[in-house]
Amino acid sequence: MSSSERRGIVAIDGPAASGKSSTAEWVARELGFTHVDSGSLYRAVTAAALRTGVPAAEWTPALVLGAADDITLVPDGHSLVPAFEGAPMTDEIRGAIVNAAVPRVARMSAVRAWVNDRIREVARARNVVVDGRDMGTAVFPEADVKVYLVADPWERAKRRLVQHLRRLPTEAEIAAETDRLVHRDAADATQSVQARDALLIDTTHLLQEEQVARIVALARAALGGRG
Ligand code: DC
Repeated sequence: MSSSERRGIVAIDGPAASGKSSTAEWVARELGFTHVDSGSLYRAVTAAALRTGVPAAEWTPALVLGAADDITLVPDGHSLVPAFEGAPMTDEIRGAIVNAAVPRVARMSAVRAWVNDRIREVARARNVVVDGRDMGTAVFPEADVKVYLVADPWERAKRRLVQHLRRLPTEAEIAAETDRLVHRDAADATQSVQARDALLIDTTHLLQEEQVARIVALARAALGGRG
């Protein structure tokens, strides 16, 4: 396929709670692209494996991939989200049990191949905005636009708490959440690495609409008629 026939790919990577998914969803909406959050697929596979009742310590790649058989991607606004036997897995994949078990699953190379195949399949048929840890490196080294989002851990923790609590968190709450985040960064199977050709955006002092506008402008310039 020549580059002019190829679909557009915008890849957004960064560490946990850097605002990748909400930014990616917004960018997709602006561009009329489809958004896929690769982290949600790792989470969905983990939730499906939990449903088998086998303790996480005993999971093998074969068991996990068997459980993943019932997962499909279904439309939700501008995103494709994981569904189990057709039902979207929205809340189930964000719980503490999945949080604890997902790094183990994301370390399995067969699972990584499964997730990457699902996302590449979508990108063959549609223009996409994808987000995760390795979208601009391992999965789509040919992406038209690569962005790497970072933010100060304290700010990431604060944003996450505001989103969950729907009020301003206390300093002590932010300190505890910062601690959890730093540990999660360390536990992640794939340490997020910035692609050499990715644009680094530090969002610590940016409004989300500012980072979205920058990425949309970059995408329009890079994609030309394909956008
Ligand atoms: O971004 P998140 O917290 O939803 O990611 C869930 C888990 O999946 C986390 O352990 C990191 C892992 N992950 C990964 O290894 N590679 C990706 N492209 C996306 C997520």
